[in-house]
Amino acid sequence: MSNAFDAIILGAGAAGLMCAARAGQRGKRVLVLERAEKPGKKILISGGGRCNFTNIGAGPANYLSVNPHFAKSALARYTARDFLDLVESYGIAWHEKTLGQLFCDGSARQIVDMLLAECAKGDVEVRCDADVTAVEHEAGRFAVMASGHIVTAPSLVIASGGPSIPKMGATGFAYDLARQFGLKVVEPRPALVPLTLGGEEVLFREISGVSAPVIASAGKTSFPEAALFTHRGLSGPAILQASSYWEPGEPIVINFLPDLGSGWLLERKRDMPRGTFKQVLRELLPDRLADILAHRLGIPAELGNASDKALRSAEERLSRWEFRPNGTEGFAKAEVTVGGISTAELSSKTMESRKVPGLYAIGEAVDVTGWLGGYNFQWAWASGVAAGDSL
Ligand code: FDA
Repeated sequence: MSNAFDAIILGAGAAGLMCAARAGQRGKRVLVLERAEKPGKKILISGGGRCNFTNIGAGPANYLSVNPHFAKSALARYTARDFLDLVESYGIAWHEKTLGQLFCDGSARQIVDMLLAECAKGDVEVRCDADVTAVEHEAGRFAVMASGHIVTAPSLVIASGGPSIPKMGATGFAYDLARQFGLKVVEPRPALVPLTLGGEEVLFREISGVSAPVIASAGKTSFPEAALFTHRGLSGPAILQASSYWEPGEPIVINFLPDLGSGWLLERKRDMPRGTFKQVLRELLPDRLADILAHRLGIPAELGNASDKALRSAEERLSRWEFRPNGTEGFAKAEVTVGGISTAELSSKTMESRKVPGLYAIGEAVDVTGWLGGYNFQWAWASGVAAGDSL
């Protein structure tokens, strides 16, 4: 078994497998090293086992990065349609769930099998149970130590992901390696993550399990989707999305009644003065949520007895309810990581380091983070292709 390759890819996740397949099919001798016992573990658990493998509307606006322009080139050159063509060429049945999110009809395993078949077409070697612990760079070659073996290549791709879900073996290895080579790392933090509530907001834990369609905002960014109350705070797609933009100390603002125009509560007062505020809210929101909001707004029993001023203020609060999360549920529960290897260090066309020729970084390891809904895999495919075509 020769230990010299054209390219070594660290991590057999979404980005690493895609990159390996492309480079292998271009005739490169490619080795993928994976510390886990099998490739593509995050793909297998993604999308509830059905893998939300892309989003048909994926574009640069759906990503967070210190440099929001960085992802443009790779996303334009390998689009959601390109990945869908690949999926269809393997006869994998799929469906659009909502908001452009594409899932397998069958199982996420089909996506992993497809990527492995693409790797096989390029004679890529995928070695599992190969934990990369050290890398050296000398005379234009990278020497990689993995589970007691040393392999070498003139090109090395960091595709080892971010630290979200450490239970699955995720680590900050990509960042350590980047720093070793003098590449800057944007402070990583958990994203697409549930938020925790403290102080008197813990009272909302009483309604754990209740969800409602809302608009959740963090700073200037808003997401119209469902919010879910949990035994620790807030979750659900709208909150997970907003969490990526949330800064500690800042509020998450929720519009509980996004479909109602201004003045709706005064209209109700005119139409049903004997009705109670709680009754009105129960018609619009799940009962337990309506009750807790009504209680906290403290409107007297019958609408007819409430002043217009009080009703206007209640309406305003229902459309701009401020929660002050005291934290997140951390990397243990985060679907992705915001931050990572700085894009300033990389070519947006090839993902190659500007400082260290032959060193590449792709996927979640890089400071490009997608919204919930297939965007993160699309970045993994697109950045993997960008590097794979350049190796
Ligand atoms: P990824 O984490 O997939 O792969 C990195 C690989 O490197 C891993 O296999 C790891 O074991 C390996 N590795 C790490 N350190 C190593 C070392 N030292 N030596 C060797 N190997 C090493 N996204 C989306 O678009 N749609 C979805 O449906 C979902 N669903 C989803 C569910 C859950 C529960 C999570 C946690 C995440 C998602 N995501 C998602 C996000 C998506 O999984 C994520 O963005 C991609 O997997 C990132 O792909 P990468 O290849 O960059 O990293």
